[in-house]
Amino acid sequence: MENVQGKVAFVTGGASGIGLGISKALAKHGAKLAIADARQSAIDEALPWFKERGYPAVGVLLNVTDRDAYAVAADEVEKAFGNIHILVNNAGVAAGGGPIWEATVKDWEFMVQVNIIGVSNGVSTLVPRMLAHGEPSHVVSTSSTGGLFGVNGSALYCACKFAVSGLMETLAGELEGTNVGVSVLYPGPTNSNLGFSSSQVRPAELQNASAPPPPPTPSSDGTVPAPYVMRDYTKIFMNPEELGERVVRGILRGDLFIHTHPEFKAGLQLRSDAIVRAIPDEPYNEERAKVVASFGTLIYNPVYEGVTTPGLPDWEPIV
Ligand SMILES: NC(=O)c1ccc[n+]([C@@H]2O[C@H](COP(=O)([O-])OP(=O)(O)OC[C@H]3O[C@@H](n4cnc5c(N)ncnc54)[C@H](O)[C@@H]3O)[C@@H](O)[C@H]2O)c1
Repeated sequence: MENVQGKVAFVTGGASGIGLGISKALAKHGAKLAIADARQSAIDEALPWFKERGYPAVGVLLNVTDRDAYAVAADEVEKAFGNIHILVNNAGVAAGGGPIWEATVKDWEFMVQVNIIGVSNGVSTLVPRMLAHGEPSHVVSTSSTGGLFGVNGSALYCACKFAVSGLMETLAGELEGTNVGVSVLYPGPTNSNLGFSSSQVRPAELQNASAPPPPPTPSSDGTVPAPYVMRDYTKIFMNPEELGERVVRGILRGDLFIHTHPEFKAGLQLRSDAIVRAIPDEPYNEERAKVVASFGTLIYNPVYEGVTTPGLPDWEPIV
């Protein structure tokens, strides 16, 4: 997509954290924003920033797990702004932390519904509309660095975010040759309200029966016991508006992979090397390879060739 000026962007989880940062960056670059979120209070807090600056933006109350409601929301946005060109599947939640064998069925259902089915609902609702109007369009979905390698204590989150990668990389192949570009976003630590919003949007029927652990008891001098004292990371984690600028750059360049944090490169390299190293060092079966290749992109997918521009070290975001 050459520019986002005048394009209509539909951003889920757009009222907080990373989604709000992406929405602000897209607005600064001239897009019209549909800020879709499951929390009306967050939408109400987010919208004034756009209105004060004269950026076109509407709020859309939407639970991404509901595909029928998604279609109604898309109709509403089309009525307000016309064709939708940019979909950012960003709504996501965190739950079920700790060893994976302790995650409950309800933790799984809540996480899978929002983090995977929510993304698929966005794709199924909006990609056919993009293909039908034929104007340059783009879909971005938010995975995580937890969607690239295992993070102890976060297996449920990792499982969902790996799924987002698989979905988007396949979608990229399926949309090759169309006017719809595809990106998968891998944020590292970014200032947001993930823990709080996740607790707010978790439906009553998916709450675990056991109560959450009680808060730590302060000692007599009022201090909280050591393991619970969280350092303030707000100055260290990425600013969502900076991250949003990186996403706009990825959309404009048509990057399949949008990375934001260079700190994860060595870990990812280690995993990729380990996978390749584990492949049996045995003679190649030409006949089998030919048959498998005829199944489509099972052993080779051209989407991995050259679509992602190397990061520009001298690039400065407009924040
Ligand atoms: N913050 C980070 O460090 C980080 C790192 C990697 C990936 N992520 C991912 O980034 C995305 C955004 O998270 P964030 O950190 O900005 O958190 P956030 O809680 O600040 O924002 C997420 C928004 O999604 C909304 N939401 C949740 N469930 C929804 C649903 N069913 N339908 C519609 N909206 C819903 C919430 O109301 C909230 O406004 C998530 O997918 C998250 O997994 C975050």
